[in-house]
Amino acid sequence: MIQPMGAEVERTVFFVTSEMYPFSKTGGLGDVLGALPLTLFRMGVPAAVILPFYRLTSSRHKILQTYYNIPVGYPWGPVTADVHKIVFNGMPVYFIERAEYYDRAAYYNTPKGDYFDNAERFIFFCRAALSFIRNLEEAPAVIHCHDWQTGLIPAYLHYYRNADSFWQNTSSVFTVHNLAFQGRFSSRLFVDSGLPSEAWSFSGVEYFGDLNMLKAALNYAGKITTVSPSYAREILTEKFGCGLDSVLRTRERDLVGILNGVNYAVWGPEASRYLPRLYSGQDMAGKKLCKDALILELGMSPHLRNRPILGFIGRLREQKGIDILYKIVPELMRRDVGIVVLGEGDHTFEAASERFAAEYPGRFSSIIKYTEPLAHRLHAGSDAFLMPSRYEPCGLTQMYALHYGTPPIATAVGGLRDTITPWPHSEATGFVFRDSSPEDFLESILQAVELWENNPEAWAAMVRRGMEKDFSWQRSANAYIEIYRELGFADGSVYY
Ligand code: ADP
Ligand code: GLC
Repeated sequence: MIQPMGAEVERTVFFVTSEMYPFSKTGGLGDVLGALPLTLFRMGVPAAVILPFYRLTSSRHKILQTYYNIPVGYPWGPVTADVHKIVFNGMPVYFIERAEYYDRAAYYNTPKGDYFDNAERFIFFCRAALSFIRNLEEAPAVIHCHDWQTGLIPAYLHYYRNADSFWQNTSSVFTVHNLAFQGRFSSRLFVDSGLPSEAWSFSGVEYFGDLNMLKAALNYAGKITTVSPSYAREILTEKFGCGLDSVLRTRERDLVGILNGVNYAVWGPEASRYLPRLYSGQDMAGKKLCKDALILELGMSPHLRNRPILGFIGRLREQKGIDILYKIVPELMRRDVGIVVLGEGDHTFEAASERFAAEYPGRFSSIIKYTEPLAHRLHAGSDAFLMPSRYEPCGLTQMYALHYGTPPIATAVGGLRDTITPWPHSEATGFVFRDSSPEDFLESILQAVELWENNPEAWAAMVRRGMEKDFSWQRSANAYIEIYRELGFADGSVYY
């Protein structure tokens, strides 16, 4: 095991992100940022986080200090940001406040689509984060950015470093959580970014005549990571590369896949705040009670107590393969299983879910909402977990499902193939199928149902193996430390 850096490290690793649980979250990005920086911090790395101060930001933490009027130097005027500091489990977290950008009903979009000024909102965020850091006494060792919303930071850093010795020993790491979301905007917004004209090139931020913030990060970051080893390989191919595979291939030597972890303090049947009854691998009685309670809560047919309930939790988008599930719902209903879909997303998928709920009352339950407590109860109360994703950079919900004793049935892509040992392997923890085809998915589900019905001992053993899997963050955090070291700090001259 790599030794944690310990107390000798003096310079900070700044995480810059658009989401961090429990302050803000739309998906797995929020969960990851809610756990990784804190894990590093507890291992002795002086980590800190910067994120936007949304209207939706929920925090019971006291603001300890506000830095007023940080100049952001936006091209069209002397715009400033206020930065609030709180301390979260000992670690500093800074919120960038600029009401007209972040004091809104949602994070990125409304039902009508993305906010029209998302480019401006996140150009501002990147610039404000760097301006704030520039006002501190010492430059950080690393700025670790996540997804397109922070994609311009490595580009700014690249140019600032030439002009300002403050940044001389600061490197950037960029983590791709989802290559499909690129922050692609009209070329006219390039001027607003304030980047020099030479950045407008293939090896800069230009992408087929548009500004592409994710591409900026891929070109300028010191190191690129993504959230599973399999996805790191997949994105080098045309099939999974979302049009950026050729750029990624130029950076192959700097690209690493590090599997996400699970925050077991939040997610798990022994710890969750939201279950009617806790349970563990040693005492599974509570899982049955959670299933009974779920049936009652969702008004499902009582006979499902003795039939398998299959749960789905996620964004109702093509990525998650929800349409693949919808294609086989009638066949599954003929097999008399229960299905629960919790998610929101595309209207056509939401409508399909509601139609199935009307057609199969008591057996197909559709909850078109974002509700964290129900997500926990569904993990606990289901017998198996459905995840027919077309691609999955890591996927957290299948790891949560494993820990709740709910074997996943998933496509063999990205993080899903890295986290599930497929039946009939002697160490199986779930089921995986090859292509994102409804036929293959159905076959896998039927295999699972058959095992559940006819071989309860084998099923229970599989459940136990899944619950015992350890995806704690410590291992991943060590791998990130190794990346920080590789960025020139390993010689000891700067970092230790
Ligand atoms: P992604 O980030 O691609 O959406 P992940 O599996 O990494 O997928 O993470 C999804 C996170 O969002 C999990 O914490 C999951 O529980 C949560 N989530 C997704 N949809 C919902 C929902 N409708 N209600 C509650 N939680 C949800
Ligand atoms: C993205 C991916 C998901 C991953 C999450 C956290 O939203 O779609 O697979 O688990 O980021 O890294």
